[in-house]
Amino acid sequence: MRLEGKVALITGAGTGIGRATAILFAEEGADVAAANLELPEAEETAEAIGETGRKAFAIAADISRPDEIYAMVDRAINEFGGVNILVNNAGLPAVPVPNAFEIKGKYI
Ligand SMILES: NC(=O)c1ccc[n+]([C@@H]2O[C@H](COP(=O)([O-])OP(=O)(O)OC[C@H]3O[C@@H](n4cnc5c(N)ncnc54)[C@H](O)[C@@H]3O)[C@@H](O)[C@H]2O)c1
Repeated sequence: MRLEGKVALITGAGTGIGRATAILFAEEGADVAAANLELPEAEETAEAIGETGRKAFAIAADISRPDEIYAMVDRAINEFGGVNILVNNAGLPAVPVPNAFEIKGKYI
């Protein structure tokens, strides 16, 4: 159990690499905030994590929208007390995303 006591926030956690990462991290002991563009897919991931005995919640978050990014991080902090691991898995080719320093300034 390499991630016991850790909290992971994973974007694009509804399918593919994001979902696989979410479930693997839970199997290694992490609680997981599963964020995804489509909520039902994230809910399926959170349900699968529940079967590992770890805590998880699903949240709809479009990573091209700063308000949804802030809501996603705020929810993870509120539910789990903080975030130890961020997996920035969802990708957006050629679409401007919020400046990393703006995100850092709000939380760190
Ligand atoms: N699979 C590969 O071979 C490969 C190779 C290189 C890079 N990547 C990158 O790795 C990441 C995951 O790949 P994958 O194959 O698991 O893709 P996937 O399409 O199976 O999963 C991507 C997930 O991200 C979600 N998503 C899409 N746009 C989003 C947005 N704006 N906000 C939040 N969530 C969003 C989708 O709903 C989906 O659940 C992607 O960024 C992809 O570009 C994948």
